[in-house]
Amino acid sequence: MLIFNQLSELRLWRKELAKQGKSLAFVPTMGNLHEGHIKLVEEAHKYADIVITSIFVNPMQFGQNEDLDAYPRTFEADCDKLKAADNHAVFYPKATDVYPNGLDAQTYVEVPDTEHTLCAEATQRPGHFRGVSTVVAKLFNLVQPDVAVFGEKDFQQLRLIKTMVSDLNMPIEIIGVATFREETGLAKSSRNGYLTTEQKMIAPALNQALNLIKNALLDGSSDIAGLQNLATEFINEAGLKTDYVLIRDAKTMEPVTENSSDIVILGAAYLGKARLIDNLCFQR
Ligand code: PAJ
Repeated sequence: MLIFNQLSELRLWRKELAKQGKSLAFVPTMGNLHEGHIKLVEEAHKYADIVITSIFVNPMQFGQNEDLDAYPRTFEADCDKLKAADNHAVFYPKATDVYPNGLDAQTYVEVPDTEHTLCAEATQRPGHFRGVSTVVAKLFNLVQPDVAVFGEKDFQQLRLIKTMVSDLNMPIEIIGVATFREETGLAKSSRNGYLTTEQKMIAPALNQALNLIKNALLDGSSDIAGLQNLATEFINEAGLKTDYVLIRDAKTMEPVTENSSDIVILGAAYLGKARLIDNLCFQR
């Protein structure tokens, strides 16, 4: 498996692939890889001849009081897992290469719909999505993939990337992959590593709450505010601290109406040092 930490080497390799007529699929990650990430690599193999995964803990998407320094960095173990999944190349850039003019550079990519509509209402993470769209645009420019693969676990992120690619005419196909879960229903996440054994036992309450709402909606309930409150109480009573639970039209991201056929239920909750997110997307 090739490992690129120099941009020039990556560029040469990319040009060579193009000459050989080989297609390239890209899996961007922040490392500390788990089965969810590996599913993305497996899926990527279906879409292209060659698969490259990036490992880069992106400083721009972390808020001031967030876990940038504490974010788990496990490069060697990540490479072992990627090798086992037949991943061809790892892009492991330095922050100074990704941000040659620092984090306060003049140019960034922002999809205001995500940053200001849902995110502003729902989360306490101002600037997070701007950091994601900016770094993914940079990584796309560096790697120049034909296809890029993202997890549905980060529903808003996937939506944001699709919007960015379409708005900016990027010639890249975006693939979404279903959330990989523990047997308890807890979505796999690098941040689950922050949980103690006791916290791991209550963490599935987030997913349980979203399922409660899903079942109620499928049973015909239309009390959206009531269901959001019910789920919030359920999560808080289990011992987590709800950040938000929102029932939205999955096509428009507007509050769900009688006519909404595609629904997404989004949830985020704090537990100890972790902020957990989850979502369920379904049709009715
Ligand atoms: P990271 O959290 O490392 O996730 C990398 C990719 O793995 C994302 O597309 C995410 O949605 C996907 N993923 C994480 N957990 C998953 C699970 N349980 N099942 C399926 N897919 C899962 O998301 C990021 O990094 C960053 O924001 C990034 C896109 C790399 C930009 O910095």
